[in-house]
Amino acid sequence: MHVQVISSVNEACSANFHHKTAFAIDVLRATSTIVTALSAGAASIVPAETVMDARSLQRPEDLMGGERFCRKIAGFDLGNSPKEYHADVVRGRRIILTTTNGTRAIHKSTKAESIIAASLLNAAAAAKYALHLQRDVVLLCAGSHDDFAIEDGLCAGLLIEELLKLKGGNIELDDFGIAMHALYRDRAEDILETLMHSQSGKRLLKLGLREDIEACARVNVLNAVPCLSGDRLILRELS
Ligand code: MLT
Repeated sequence: MHVQVISSVNEACSANFHHKTAFAIDVLRATSTIVTALSAGAASIVPAETVMDARSLQRPEDLMGGERFCRKIAGFDLGNSPKEYHADVVRGRRIILTTTNGTRAIHKSTKAESIIAASLLNAAAAAKYALHLQRDVVLLCAGSHDDFAIEDGLCAGLLIEELLKLKGGNIELDDFGIAMHALYRDRAEDILETLMHSQSGKRLLKLGLREDIEACARVNVLNAVPCLSGDRLILRELS
């Protein structure tokens, strides 16, 4: 299995994804929120690139979620905090979600054979599911406004760690993958600290969203694998 890591959405082109399993990674906070919402019983999540796209997809029974500048979009039901997506709110609902970078990363990956939303929360489950798909893997770090974001690189490193465990060390990494794996190995005991000091973390802290960072920094606590099926992410649960 070959594993390539792409540092930000800006660096990705469709040729990177052909015949591959893609992981879209936006730890702070889009893919953490997606995993949380589907684990809490949301029926599906439709990732939309723009606010206008999101509004055009809306049916009366849908929940509208997402952010711009880390804040809830005017007229939407929910922002992009995992804590907003609890079972009482989302159970059985289709959610249209648009975020600045995370939903863009999912759209950028559409040439892949399969697309998985990955975060620290579900890395082990996502790696296990990718193994079962038996394709080469591309890990797309969403980043922030076209720049690399360390929390996404850390998650890519964790996914590599999980894949290495599952494959008995038998995976081939590109150079950025080797670097992200080393980063993860270096920071594995200080994940929350690393997120708090990241640019995205500092932005969220300024907005009083420390709890979101704490929620997104938990490793392998959910056994849920959101996969794109048509235009929506639905849950694949592993036994
Ligand atoms: C994004 O998709 O850009 C992020 O999830 C931003 C945020 O933290 O809300």
